[in-house]
Amino acid sequence: MAKSTGKGVKKKALEEFDGSSEESSGYAEGDEERVEEPLGASEAASGLAKEGGSDVGGVDLTDLDGVGPSISEKLHEGRYNTYEAISVASPKELSAASGIGEATAQKIILSARSKLNIGFTTAEKVLNDRKNVKRCTTGSEKLDAIIGGGLETRSIIELFGEFRTGKTQIAHQACVTVQMPFDKGGLEAAALYVDSEGTFRPERLLQIAERYGLNGDEILQKIHYARAYNSDHQILIIDSAVKLILEKNIKLIVVDSVMSHFRAEYVGRGTLSERQQKLNKFVHKLLQTAEAYNLIVLITNQVMDSPGIFFGDPIRPVGGHVLAHSSTYRLYLRKSKGNKRIARLIDSPCLPEGEAIFEITERGVEDP
Ligand code: GTP
Ligand code: MG
Repeated sequence: MAKSTGKGVKKKALEEFDGSSEESSGYAEGDEERVEEPLGASEAASGLAKEGGSDVGGVDLTDLDGVGPSISEKLHEGRYNTYEAISVASPKELSAASGIGEATAQKIILSARSKLNIGFTTAEKVLNDRKNVKRCTTGSEKLDAIIGGGLETRSIIELFGEFRTGKTQIAHQACVTVQMPFDKGGLEAAALYVDSEGTFRPERLLQIAERYGLNGDEILQKIHYARAYNSDHQILIIDSAVKLILEKNIKLIVVDSVMSHFRAEYVGRGTLSERQQKLNKFVHKLLQTAEAYNLIVLITNQVMDSPGIFFGDPIRPVGGHVLAHSSTYRLYLRKSKGNKRIARLIDSPCLPEGEAIFEITERGVEDP
């Protein structure tokens, strides 16, 4: 896959972007992309954001320095209701969500970190801690193999590829497999599905459940669904998911797709910086959530064609450097013959690039 576009191509892409060849930009290569027609986002509506209220579960926080009953309540209202969630927050975030001062927030964060024993550690301890990382099957052993044995907790796994390459199918599949017993490749846990494209299909989940001889109704009950109507709503859903994560033992969060609202809402080169900042916050939050609750974040992403690339593959994921740096695993999906699809692992921190062929059938995702 070609990573660099070269000067002439870059200039051409810019011209196509907004019709101007003059505009100079401060963006690094890779954050450029052509923009499509808005998808027509409607106003924010229900979804998970409606759940909650002041009593959102979590632990007693009054053990933390600087936290009395009233601040504890504010933190709970702001959905910072576990030591983990507080310890990975920034003072600004905590202050904004709970209405406490930043200095107090800083103190509380440090106290939460000390309770959790966060600070310097040794590589040996990190290795031990990594033993809590779990993996969930994708339904295809070959696909599992190229990502080190399945979808990994504490990670963001990004699926990108053209339309109909199987991104949504893998996402559906994982919502079922995450519920299976450990010895069958599952995590005995529930899933949260954030749908920004309206392509979630419970009927499909029932088909997949049937393949494993699972009770369809029970499977559906453990897949918590939220339709995201715009990028703010998408962010809000994740921000407000803590209660659900804890109560329902969520070990998989799907965001299908991560970029569609951002692309539709931020049209034109002038808005790119704002979009990337907001996107950065969103994926950062996803990663924090994955780490704090030891769960899998599976995101799908669209691609763009880079015209004028003469060698290599002109297809690349959208979202620029922000997504490239945040995703722990990036899988590039391509069509092959019939129902077959090819997945290629790229940019992994510790695994070699590899390819796997899988198949999409009425049974879901499986080995051909
Ligand atoms: P976009 O969201 O459009 O970017 O595509 P995607 O990558 O999410 O595609 P998706 O995962 O929805 O894959 C669609 C493919 O799965 C199509 O080629 C369908 O034919 C195939 N598919 C979906 N359901 C079934 C099924 O029940 N049986 C078979 N054989 N194929 C199916
Ligand atoms: Mg899809």
